[in-house]
Amino acid sequence: GKNGYPFYMEKEIMEQPEAIENTIKNRIVGGMPDFTADGVPDTLFTECEHICIVACGTAMHAGLVAQALVKSILHMHIEVQMASEFMYSDPVIDEKTLVIAVSQSGETIDTLEAVKYAKNRGAKCLAIINVKGSSIARESDYVLYTNAGPEIAVASTKAYTTQLAVFYLIVARMAHSRGVFDDAQTQSFVRELQRTPEVMKKVLERRRDIHVVAKKVLGAKDLFMIGRGLDYSILLEGSLKLKEVSYIHSEAYASGELKHGPIALITQDTPVVATVTQEKLMSKELSNIKEVKSRGADVVVFIKESIVGDLAKEYEIFTLPDMQDEFMVLPASVALQLLAYYVSSDKGFDVDKPRNLAKVVTVE
Ligand code: M6R
Repeated sequence: GKNGYPFYMEKEIMEQPEAIENTIKNRIVGGMPDFTADGVPDTLFTECEHICIVACGTAMHAGLVAQALVKSILHMHIEVQMASEFMYSDPVIDEKTLVIAVSQSGETIDTLEAVKYAKNRGAKCLAIINVKGSSIARESDYVLYTNAGPEIAVASTKAYTTQLAVFYLIVARMAHSRGVFDDAQTQSFVRELQRTPEVMKKVLERRRDIHVVAKKVLGAKDLFMIGRGLDYSILLEGSLKLKEVSYIHSEAYASGELKHGPIALITQDTPVVATVTQEKLMSKELSNIKEVKSRGADVVVFIKESIVGDLAKEYEIFTLPDMQDEFMVLPASVALQLLAYYVSSDKGFDVDKPRNLAKVVTVE
């Protein structure tokens, strides 16, 4: 049942601290990431030369976050491919490619076909899956289950954040096995990941504040979400969530790209949601936020607590509890899920069953 919540989506958003706990707990041994119980050997990580992630929708967005981490931490070639485009794009893959397929259901036909195609080309395939024994799990060489528990709402929430948690573990294990991280660096990365449930709880406890913020975008027909780097990756997912459940046309845009065209659409009728979680990008992000504000847009900013300064004087703010920058995706995602959820439920929509959508997409 819904455990007293009006919708599964809210229940599943609230379950995330526990879900993340279940994803990581048996995979940390002596403070180190450990996939022994999953049967995933280190050779998978040491023998590959590049990585290709295939997935759809929200699962693909988890892949985009992983891509940023792999580049900045492992300095490896990595690409993320929409599974539906993968085999028609003449992908450059071979025996040296580690293909990582990501799927909540494990039944998405596009992703399943991509895995079959990659295996035919000799690539090794690791799947990150929620549903045990599903088709993609069976088709892949190795599986890391997210252990999020059943996800009923069509809009994916806890599946996404647990996919992220698995990716953080993979990056840590890979960095260690490839000699990029020493023991101490690996343990400290894992310790930060272990803070996630507590940090997410802090966001969830303040969900009423997000409900207040949600009222600002309720009436919008069109909306932009802007950010750079990891902030952009988070917003792609935040924007998909809002589209799916609230039917507001929302576009996530890399904030630096905005002035190369779409800023023409910014008026007082297009609210803008921005995330500012990466200290190194902050000053550029803030100047992009100013640009849209001066075009009349109402701006809501989700910003890392320690860098908020006096921004609350000028903008509608929600502060995100601090983690190290590369982990800020986790609390920020929860906040954006709540934003979409409250807009949808305030509009009186059937949050769990958005029109035209199905939980599992089995047609290409
Ligand atoms: O089951 P999968 O993770 O393979 O599903 C992929 C997408 O269909 C899915 O994430 C879809 O985008 C959701 N409706 C997002 O909320």
